[in-house]
Amino acid sequence: MRGPELSPRLSMVGELVPVGARLADVGTDHAYLPAALILEGKIPWAVAADLRRGPLDRARTTVREYGLTGKAAFRLCDGLTGIRPDEVDAVAVAGMGGETIAAILSAAPWVRERDLPLILQPMSSFPDLRGWLQSNGFTIAEERLAREGDTLYTALLVRAGEMGPLSPAELWAGRNNRDPLRGAWLDMWIARVRRALEGMARARGELPRRRELEEVLEGLIEMKKEWEQWQQ
Ligand SMILES: C[S@@+](CC[C@H](N)C(=O)[O-])C[C@H]1O[C@@H](n2cnc3c(N)ncnc32)[C@H](O)[C@@H]1O
Repeated sequence: MRGPELSPRLSMVGELVPVGARLADVGTDHAYLPAALILEGKIPWAVAADLRRGPLDRARTTVREYGLTGKAAFRLCDGLTGIRPDEVDAVAVAGMGGETIAAILSAAPWVRERDLPLILQPMSSFPDLRGWLQSNGFTIAEERLAREGDTLYTALLVRAGEMGPLSPAELWAGRNNRDPLRGAWLDMWIARVRRALEGMARARGELPRRRELEEVLEGLIEMKKEWEQWQQ
């Protein structure tokens, strides 16, 4: 049977999941990600977890409708609190704010101790999440981009380990790479930071925060130039 059709954003997350991993999908909602990966034979089993009963019921429905009963377990819990370290080999946390993702990882130190691959797909608070990872013994092994209409999304493959310090611009937009969508991603951040700086100028915002954002903007413009050179 064909699995649920994943959006470009969820497909990007799925591509970063290691083959054969027993996956914890935290904040699973419909459980489309684990259902699709099990049906395509990429993973054998998953635990679908959600904080709320409604989304977890939707996950149960998906698993039943696709004939996957027995290949997925369900947990009503906050983050990873209902999942045992010995039952999963990889963790996905997609479609949540960066601060929520950091809080979920912070409450489960075993993911770092066991060096589990973490596939994180933040929707906001990007500098907070990258900064938290940097300060808490994680390294970003890979970062990808996907486009849905006018919206760009990023997904991070994270492992235990030290990563060299990220510059202010890298905290916002991630390390530079040759991803074809990277130019558009940097343009989006340049426009956002410019707008924030304009807003601050009108409101006579605090000087230290302005200086910080100016440094971010300079770094983003440099990364964009570097990316353009790679395209030639
Ligand atoms: C926007 S949906 C994302 C669904 C799916 N992961 C995706 O990327 O399409 C976010 C889901 O995360 C759940 N959620 C939010 N905070 C959570 C937490 N601390 N622990 C577990 N689930 C959480 C919500 O109930 C919701 O079902």
